[in-house]
Amino acid sequence: MIVVRTVAELRAALSPRRDGTIGLVPTMGALHEGHATLLRAARAADDTVVMSIFVNPTQFNEQADLAAYPRTEAADLDLAEAEGVDVVFAPDAAEVYPRAFATTVTVSGPIAETLEGAERGRGHFDGVATVVTKLLLASLPDHAYFGAKDAQQVAVIRRFVADLGIPVKVVVCPTSRDADGLARSSRNTRLSPHERSQALAIPRALDAVRDAAAGGLSGTGALQARAVAELEAAGIHPEYVAFVDPETFAPVAAVEGPVLVAIAARVGTTRLIDNTVIGGA
Ligand code: PAF
Repeated sequence: MIVVRTVAELRAALSPRRDGTIGLVPTMGALHEGHATLLRAARAADDTVVMSIFVNPTQFNEQADLAAYPRTEAADLDLAEAEGVDVVFAPDAAEVYPRAFATTVTVSGPIAETLEGAERGRGHFDGVATVVTKLLLASLPDHAYFGAKDAQQVAVIRRFVADLGIPVKVVVCPTSRDADGLARSSRNTRLSPHERSQALAIPRALDAVRDAAAGGLSGTGALQARAVAELEAAGIHPEYVAFVDPETFAPVAAVEGPVLVAIAARVGTTRLIDNTVIGGA
């Protein structure tokens, strides 16, 4: 495994490997089992696996959140090596955003402006779209791997990849969960034992919605009430429990096709998100 810090070094490392496929796993480091799942999917499908590590300042709406974001490069490199990564691209901020940088990739409409876009601010998905565009252009991979937990991020990435005609296949891997159902996240390390057990109400709320929908309840108002009841019973007051079209993020009133159920909630001071799709194709 080699570690490169500049786009020029990355391109030089990938140039002799372009006769086979290249898979990119973009990360912000602080790797956990969820990232390992993405790396394994890339390793199984691609001849060369590239992983980026870059804590992207432009997608953080709170400076405190950016400052508190765990930076664990040595451990991340160990995990990458163990998962068979070929090239790690770990640039600094000046490499990604050089002096006079003035370009932003913006996806418009509910897909980027509602839910996480509304809660975290307009700049969040601009930051994600801009940095992912730069990572894709720097590595020109055949496949780029993302986790389904960040469903809105995936929808935003799919949108600008299609709109800009970027020649990459976006591969979405299922949410990686602990044995008790909690979606894996770098933020979970911030939960106290009590908060962690409270947080289990989030996957329980998604299960309750899935069960109710499977039992024939189709109105999203009634389904939302089930989820909120489950969360409130655990002392969690959600920021949102939303029922939206998985591609456009337009709200839906009844389950008549695939519907993304997305939850965001603070548990203590830690903000968690999770989702599921109901009403399958
Ligand atoms: O999901 C993440 O870790 C980040 O949003 C990403 C895709 C690496 C862009 O900074």
